[in-house]
Amino acid sequence: MPLKDHHGLEYSGASPAAAERYLRAVAAFHCYAGQPFPELKAAVADSPRFVMAHVLIGYMTLVGGNAALRRMGAAAHAALRDLPMNGREAGHAAAVGHILAGEVRAAARALEDVALAWPRDVLALQVGQTMDFLLGDARMLRDRIGRVRGAWTPDMPGYHAILGLHAFGLEETAHYGRAEAAGREAVALEPRNNWARHAVAHVLEMQDRRAEGVRFMRDDAAVWTADSFFLVHNWWHTALFHLGLGETDAVLELYDGPIRGEASDLAFDMADAAALLWRLRLRDVDVGDRWATLADGWSGHEFGRNAFEDAHAVMTLVGAGRDAEAEAAVAALTAATGGTGDNAAATRDVGLPVAQAFLAYGRGRHRHAADLLRDVRSIAHRFGGSHAQRDVLDLTLIDAAARAGDTALAHALVAERKAALP
Ligand SMILES: [Fe+2]
Repeated sequence: MPLKDHHGLEYSGASPAAAERYLRAVAAFHCYAGQPFPELKAAVADSPRFVMAHVLIGYMTLVGGNAALRRMGAAAHAALRDLPMNGREAGHAAAVGHILAGEVRAAARALEDVALAWPRDVLALQVGQTMDFLLGDARMLRDRIGRVRGAWTPDMPGYHAILGLHAFGLEETAHYGRAEAAGREAVALEPRNNWARHAVAHVLEMQDRRAEGVRFMRDDAAVWTADSFFLVHNWWHTALFHLGLGETDAVLELYDGPIRGEASDLAFDMADAAALLWRLRLRDVDVGDRWATLADGWSGHEFGRNAFEDAHAVMTLVGAGRDAEAEAAVAALTAATGGTGDNAAATRDVGLPVAQAFLAYGRGRHRHAADLLRDVRSIAHRFGGSHAQRDVLDLTLIDAAARAGDTALAHALVAERKAALP
C-alpha cells in the first residue's frame, strides 16, 4: 500500500520516516522558511526511490539559482528516470523535466493538469504559480489558485499556503483589497509564511503605503526572517518602502546587511540587488564600489537562459561601467533570440531591448534608451517578474525622458503613476 498524506495524496517509494521528512520539507517550502534540504537529503538516503522527494529537490534547485544548484536539479531529474510512480507523480516528474529543459510553458501546463485532478496538491499549485511568475502570466497567477479555493476549508493543513498564493495572484491582477485580506489571514495562521507576507508587501508597494510597509516588515522581522530562504527578496521590498520615503541611508544599510551581506550568487537575489542599486542611481545616490562587487557576483552567469536575470546582469555591468562586458552580454542575448524555446521569445520581445536600453542609458544616449523602453513597456511582463520588479523599467524611462529633454513625456509618465494610485 502506498503511503498517503493528510490530503489523501499517495507517495511512491517512501518509507514512513522518509515521507514524514518530505512532508516537513514541503511545509517549509510553502513558507520559504525552515530547513528543507537536510530533510530531503535524509529522505532520499533512506528511500532512494521516493519520487516526490526527488521532485521537490528539482523544484528547489532549478529556478533562479546558480550552476551548482542546477546540477543538483539535473541529478534529481535523472534519479526519477524509471522509478515506479502514480499519475500525479508522473505529472510532477514531467514538470521537473520541462523546467530543466527551459520549457516553462509546458511545466506550467503539466502542473495545471496535476492540480485539475488533485486540487489539494499544494506543491503543484505553488510551483505552477512560480511558472506563471516566470511567464508573466498575471491571469494564471490568480486563477490557478482561485479555481481550487472551493476544494479547501480553513481547517485543512496547508490552507495558509493557498491563501498566500491566492493573495499574490490577486495582487498582480490589482485586486488589492482581497489580496491584502487573504495575505494577512495567511500570515495570521502561519507567521513564517514568507510568500503570504510578500503578497501583502506588494499591496502596500502598489498602494504607496510605505511607512506602513516598513512597520509591517520590521515589526515581525524576528519571526519571518528565521531560517528564511526568501530573505533577500522580502528585505528588498522593505528597502523599496524606505526608498519611497527618501530614506536612502536605510536602503544602503539593508543592502549591505541582509540583501547583499552574504554575497548570494543566486540569480534572483543578484537581480534584486541590481534593481536596488539602479533605483539609487536614478536618484543620483553614490553607491561606491557596490556595483563592482555585484558585477563580480554575476561573473559565472550564463546568458541566454532567463531573460529577466540577463537584463539585470546587464544592468549591473552598465552600473559598474563595464561596457565591453555589457556589450558582449547584449551580443549573447542577440544570439539567444535565434532559439525556439520560451526564453528565446522572452529575450526577443523584452530581455534584449531592455538590456540595450540599459546600455544606451549608461552611455548617455537617453533618447535611444527612452525609445527602446517605450516600445517594450506594455509587453514587459513577458519576461516575468512582478509589477514591482518591472517598475524599474518605468522609472528608467521617466529619467531617460527627462535627461533627453523630453519634459512632455516625463511629465506624462509621472502623471500616469499618480493617477494609478488610490
Ligand atoms: Fe516581490
